Amino acid sequence: MSPSPIYGSTNAASCGSGTKPSPPGRDTSVITHNNGLLTPAEPQNGHNRIKLANGFVCPYRFSGAAMKAAAHIQRRGQKTAFPTFLLRQPPEPLTDGFTEAAEPIRVVVTGAAGQIAYSLLYSIAKGDVFGKEQPITLILLDIPPMLPVLEGVVMELQDCALPLLREVIPTDMVEVGFKDIDAAILVGSMPRKEGMERKDLLKANVAIFKTQGSALDKYAKKTVKVLVVGNPANTNCLIASKSAPSIPKENFSCLTRLDHNRASSQVAMRCGVSADKVKNVIIWGNHSSSQYPDVHHAKVTVKGVEKDAYDAVKDEAWLRGDFISTVQLRGAAVIKARKLSSAMSAAKAICDHMRDIWFGTKDGEFISMGVYAGGNSYGIPEDLIYSFPIEIKNKTWKMVGGLPINDFSRAKMDATAAELVEERDTAMDFLSQ
Ligand SMILES: NC(=O)c1ccc[n+]([C@@H]2O[C@H](COP(=O)([O-])OP(=O)(O)OC[C@H]3O[C@@H](n4cnc5c(N)ncnc54)[C@H](O)[C@@H]3O)[C@@H](O)[C@H]2O)c1
Repeated sequence: MSPSPIYGSTNAASCGSGTKPSPPGRDTSVITHNNGLLTPAEPQNGHNRIKLANGFVCPYRFSGAAMKAAAHIQRRGQKTAFPTFLLRQPPEPLTDGFTEAAEPIRVVVTGAAGQIAYSLLYSIAKGDVFGKEQPITLILLDIPPMLPVLEGVVMELQDCALPLLREVIPTDMVEVGFKDIDAAILVGSMPRKEGMERKDLLKANVAIFKTQGSALDKYAKKTVKVLVVGNPANTNCLIASKSAPSIPKENFSCLTRLDHNRASSQVAMRCGVSADKVKNVIIWGNHSSSQYPDVHHAKVTVKGVEKDAYDAVKDEAWLRGDFISTVQLRGAAVIKARKLSSAMSAAKAICDHMRDIWFGTKDGEFISMGVYAGGNSYGIPEDLIYSFPIEIKNKTWKMVGGLPINDFSRAKMDATAAELVEERDTAMDFLSQ
């Protein structure tokens, strides 16, 4: 049956109106004063939607009574126009035609009651990651004892009064958390407790990321982009990917951007320039103290002149010594000073990583992220999530290949790979149990 038309004299037609200029290809002026024929469209994400006379589809809210009456009329196959009085409840005020018209994307953050999430959620919800025009449904996943804490996080997000934030869904169920999601930021993981062996920690995390990978496989969109933050991030990411065989391996990555940012910042401070004057540092390998921060291919712009990092820093001993250990051990240094782990800088790095996936990296620049090592040109074992230099375009990453590797770098790249191989083998034993 074709949907019954609805005649409305309400401001449903204000969808697409507003002071913002129309995005290319959308003529919003036609519907600014639309009092004409409106047609019900397929609901999406639980929202009723209306098709306007010009084919523009927007969300619309009816009163319960109006919905029942509409369903009744449709069941009886009547073609009667819905009278205006059925549209009792006015639509929510629309402040921005374009953002109201765009479909919200669904983003899940796990470990949402934790301290990284607390720094992260506001940035996501205000558009720092997916763009200033992109509405968002945020799904906050944590474990059952943390649900009361999540309630507080939800209240705070509401109190931020952010125009892009359409809905916040707190949950402890993966089937709710991963349903139809476009992006997953997996921060929650089992922390190391006193007396816990490394193996026990790995075992607990394999269980978590196996469950979450399987849920992604079952409930998420196949295009979902998955960023794993919870440690051990590389191996957790590998387990999640292996547990989600219907989602391309390339959609999974793990966070080494914090290490990358730390390395850029150390070099910038050494050269007396701002961090944006340093590009193309590389973090190779594991997000652990075996990682190798490498500036052999990095560039620094000093007083308008771009130089190789080694020429700009002019201190090889530092670059091969304290620089590397400072970046490798920075997380522990922050914990020692703050008595808490790095949350603000981790949240910033998560935003940088996901924004680059969504919008791409700058021409001529690469960033670091942990990705599937299959097909790499650096002799790294294939079945690992290993951090490489990466360029991104059209939401697709490409490894930067063919960079010359000297003996110093080779040894460090192999050492961190060996640690990952061992971690993977132990994790795979647990996965098969
Ligand atoms: N990759 C990186 O660069 C990087 C940087 C910093 C921290 N981390 C890691 O990120 C993780 C989170 O750090 P944090 O400081 O926010 O920790 P936190 O302890 O403050 O928060 C972790 C949250 O995860 C939740 N959680 C535990 N198991 C879960 C599960 N199965 N599903 C959903 N949620 C679950 C906890 O209840 C808690 O709310 C840690 O593993 C940390 O080591 C990684």
